[in-house]
Amino acid sequence: MHFNLLTLFPDMFPGFTGLSLAGRALEDKKWSYNAIQIRDFARDKHKTVDDTPFGGGAGMVMRADVIENALLSIPSPGKLVYMSPRGRVFNQAMAEEFIKAQSLTILCGRYEGVDQRVLDAHGFEEVSIGDYVLSGGEPAALIVMDTCIRLIDGVMGNAQTVSEESFSNGLLEYPHYTRPAEWTDAKGAAHKVPEVLTSGDHGKVAKWRRAQAEELTRARRPDLLKK
Ligand code: 6GU
Repeated sequence: MHFNLLTLFPDMFPGFTGLSLAGRALEDKKWSYNAIQIRDFARDKHKTVDDTPFGGGAGMVMRADVIENALLSIPSPGKLVYMSPRGRVFNQAMAEEFIKAQSLTILCGRYEGVDQRVLDAHGFEEVSIGDYVLSGGEPAALIVMDTCIRLIDGVMGNAQTVSEESFSNGLLEYPHYTRPAEWTDAKGAAHKVPEVLTSGDHGKVAKWRRAQAEELTRARRPDLLKK
């Protein structure tokens, strides 16, 4: 999978996707990226990328022509995404859709936004990562990238881990425990691991985990159960 990032801050990439499992996968060429400086495609001598909004109001708007010039420099842009808090809220199902495109081009806005005409003319899908406002689309793009990268074949060590985790089955994950089986915290309180997990009965363990996942989902995210 290849990611093109259209941004005024190319140094924000690969960011944390250059570390840990995603970073190893980048080295192994399981994915690649190209962070494109939008400013390089401004044609005037001041390298202007933004201007005041028609109709007045606060802030600046990124110019359609400059963004289009940057977009047209990409040989195979694939699916086009514009990161914006106005967009469809990103989720696991969208990540699974995105990785079907071999190329994803993500436009990261700054200022008040980008000229609507370039989004319409090229069919960008607007995507948000949640109901809060970031100062720019770059951190949101990194989150979309990370979510996609770990779904690429061979990136995660254990394929079973991916299919069992939160959201793949529509439930939050059951709680995890490891050694020691009995642990005393700093206040002197002893904590035992749930007995079923040390019973060696794999059927009982699976049933217990499923029940825990359902209970947790009901308590914290009843909206997921309705889906
Ligand atoms: Cl995609 N961009 C910005 N600037 N803020 C956001 C967002 C995106 N998603 C949630 N907040």
